[in-house]
Amino acid sequence: MKNPLESIDEYDTIVLGYPNWWGTMPMVCYTFLESYDFTGKRIIPFCTNEGSGMGSSVRFIKKLCPGATVEDGTPIHGAEAAYADSEAREIAELAK
Ligand SMILES: Cc1cc2nc3c(=O)[nH]c(=O)nc-3n(C[C@H](O)[C@H](O)[C@H](O)COP(=O)(O)O)c2cc1C
Repeated sequence: MKNPLESIDEYDTIVLGYPNWWGTMPMVCYTFLESYDFTGKRIIPFCTNEGSGMGSSVRFIKKLCPGATVEDGTPIHGAEAAYADSEAREIAELAK
């Protein structure tokens, strides 16, 4: 991980975005989720993809962060990510 945070204590809600790679999230996301204690935190995942949606990523996030509230996640079609305004608004609304 580049520039890892010393702590995530000051955050209650974490918006976690990543591309779908091989049906799940990239390995660096696993490293990130294994590096901190997410107990009591809320995780809002979103995932760009070319057809697999969230894949099994949300299941793995829940497994890695059993003490966190993990939202269903927002899949975004990668090729249209630049135009995903409504999804971005939805995520911002959830994070409020
Ligand atoms: C190594 C690799 C594996 C991928 N596996 C999947 C996959 O299993 N399902 C899927 O829908 N898209 C898959 N994709 C497509 C990516 O999700 C898509 O390229 C990405 O969301 C768009 O973000 P980018 O502009 O950062 O590539 C894969 C892409 C790469 C490079």
